[in-house]
Amino acid sequence: MQYNIKDKVVLITGATGGIGAASARELYNFGANLVLTDLSQSSLDQLASEFESHRVMTKVMDVTNWDSIREVKELTITKFGKLDIVFANAGISWKNSAHTILSCQEEEFETILEVDLMGVWRTIKTTLPEIIKSKGQVIVTSSIYAYTNGMCNAPYAVSKAGIEMFTRSLGAEIIGKGASASVLYPGWITTPLTKNVFGGDPLTTKMRELGFPGFLKKPIPPEKVANALVKGILKRKPRITIPYRWIPIQWFRGIFGNLSDLYLSKHKTLQKLLTDLEVR
Ligand SMILES: NC(=O)c1ccc[n+]([C@@H]2O[C@H](COP(=O)([O-])OP(=O)(O)OC[C@H]3O[C@@H](n4cnc5c(N)ncnc54)[C@H](O)[C@@H]3O)[C@@H](O)[C@H]2O)c1
Repeated sequence: MQYNIKDKVVLITGATGGIGAASARELYNFGANLVLTDLSQSSLDQLASEFESHRVMTKVMDVTNWDSIREVKELTITKFGKLDIVFANAGISWKNSAHTILSCQEEEFETILEVDLMGVWRTIKTTLPEIIKSKGQVIVTSSIYAYTNGMCNAPYAVSKAGIEMFTRSLGAEIIGKGASASVLYPGWITTPLTKNVFGGDPLTTKMRELGFPGFLKKPIPPEKVANALVKGILKRKPRITIPYRWIPIQWFRGIFGNLSDLYLSKHKTLQKLLTDLEVR
């Protein structure tokens, strides 16, 4: 039976970013009430102004901070009386430019894990009792980097692989309670997160172009992710992959993973660019 989104209460982290905001709009159009959270109140206010005020709540929430997540959960119950869906979507990558494991700063590596891995754990752990109570859904934004070689993007790929397994494990644990958990796997999406590898930084732009075959390196707009997300929620799909061209790669990820490890290690130009990146 199809899950009905109308009148469901959805908490979104990273709600004012590219994928978060597009998803908020799509879920709202399907009748959901929104709890929008992110780091900046003014950005949240701007997004919320698009919606009827009785159907939306905004609150600054940092996913690295337990107290801030607990406060949002309490406020959600006070305003809406329940929480049906938690969309753990907040995520970051390198602040300015990409680094290798050798060249990165220890602190930046760990900050990415704090947000992308531990932030998801904290968001879900805090809200899970409410999700189970409403037989609702957990959706976690992982990435194709859950199974694609994370060269020059290691803390991000480590986190996305980690939250993929976290969500799969959770799904098996809560399905018997009537709730479900889904992994969202976006490919390349045109949002602020990817501006460096799409022209912002010529070196990493070139690396992306060389590192991925033509049909896999093209970006799609966040609205397509939002559309796939809603379709996935309606069917409680355990995996939501967009663009669809990544689905066969995902099925045969063992083989493709080995081949791409080999390709990256043998590609002379890519290996040269790696050294350029480390010394600049
Ligand atoms: N853009 C892509 O190509 C792509 C591909 C796969 C997965 N993703 C994932 O999609 C999710 C959304 O990313 P996006 O592409 O919309 O990027 P984005 O930069 O537009 O949005 C990310 C949002 O997360 C928020 N955020 C950052 N740190 C936070 C924290 N500590 N607490 C709460 N919020 C925080 C930011 O303020 C921002 O609004 C991320 O998890 C990202 O890793 C993106």
